[in-house]
Amino acid sequence: MKRAHNFYAGPSTLPLSVLKELQGEMVEYHNLGLSLLETSHRSPEYDEVHHGAMHLVKELLSLPDNYKVLFLQGGATMQFSMVPMNFLAEGSHADYLNSGAWAKKAIADARLYGSVEVTFDGKEKGYMSLPEPRSVVSTPGAQYVHITSNETIGGVQWKDFPATEAPLVADMSSDILSRPIPIERFGLIYAGAQKNLGPSGVTLVIVREDLLTKEQGKVGAYLKYSTHAESDSLYNTPPVFGIYALGKVLSWVKAQGGLPAVTANNRTKADLVYRAIESTDGFYHCPVDPSFRSDMNIVFTLRKGDLDKSFLDGSEERGMLGLKGHRSVGGFRASLYNAMPIEGAKALADYMVEFAQKNG
Ligand SMILES: Cc1ncc(COP(=O)(O)O)c(C=O)c1O
Repeated sequence: MKRAHNFYAGPSTLPLSVLKELQGEMVEYHNLGLSLLETSHRSPEYDEVHHGAMHLVKELLSLPDNYKVLFLQGGATMQFSMVPMNFLAEGSHADYLNSGAWAKKAIADARLYGSVEVTFDGKEKGYMSLPEPRSVVSTPGAQYVHITSNETIGGVQWKDFPATEAPLVADMSSDILSRPIPIERFGLIYAGAQKNLGPSGVTLVIVREDLLTKEQGKVGAYLKYSTHAESDSLYNTPPVFGIYALGKVLSWVKAQGGLPAVTANNRTKADLVYRAIESTDGFYHCPVDPSFRSDMNIVFTLRKGDLDKSFLDGSEERGMLGLKGHRSVGGFRASLYNAMPIEGAKALADYMVEFAQKNG
């Protein structure tokens, strides 16, 4: 098999070594006579995998002891509801920053549970920019402030984070573990795994313990963060395969040199592609404010839109998949998550320059 360069936004590329390890252990896990997928989630073998993965999240993100790591299901989308269900008490409100498509979804769901103050709306700039982080303050009485650290569709990323009085809640689905974060500024972070952490099916939640005491009463057991915090995410059957694979991806991140190494690689890859965009005299256009351009999802259009098909066909012929932009915005999007090798970004950048020279 010739492995393609995978630019899909999610589910997305995984380290080849992890896929091979999973393949090797799929039928039989560590001489057990069965696979881990057929093993009780209460077994000592699974327990080790489960707690090992939790430990690696804490280690790689340098989480202080007062943060809990939870493995849930339902994707980041379920967190759009779980956050307000738990923390938006009747008669109170939360601040939401509307940075684009994913923030909008979080806002729409939160409004079903309580009052939302949209304290920033990127509409005026076409959702292609963000506010200066230091200018973000929580409104009096806000239960929390919600941001989307990286807009996967718009390609807009917070480079630094607000330090708000109310707990900061972040949807980090598309840039978790891609760079260091000032964890002490956050009350809760959530992320679907299927971009930087592993396959889909598990959602990572990191929550500061003191927030658990602020949960509201009338929420079903599964939907309460404290249920999972108290049982180390073993209240019910967890997404065993997702957590098992996530642990392997985290071990891979650690072996790369942890966050410092991964951050440096991500910068190199993003630079390669942004430089290709900028070097072609307007042949390509990235609409995002340069101060907030995402290192994870790079969006661009061709000045001559009639060349879109030819650009895409050529990329596929060269083994580059998943470059078509999101259906709501068109153009192109290159997702460069942790597991995308530098050669993948280089192959794209070289192709872009070559295509521009031929067709410019
Ligand atoms: C920033 C962001 N938030 C939320 C979601 C929804 O995640 P899920 O499909 O895990 O529910 C996505 C999916 O791509 C995303 O990119």
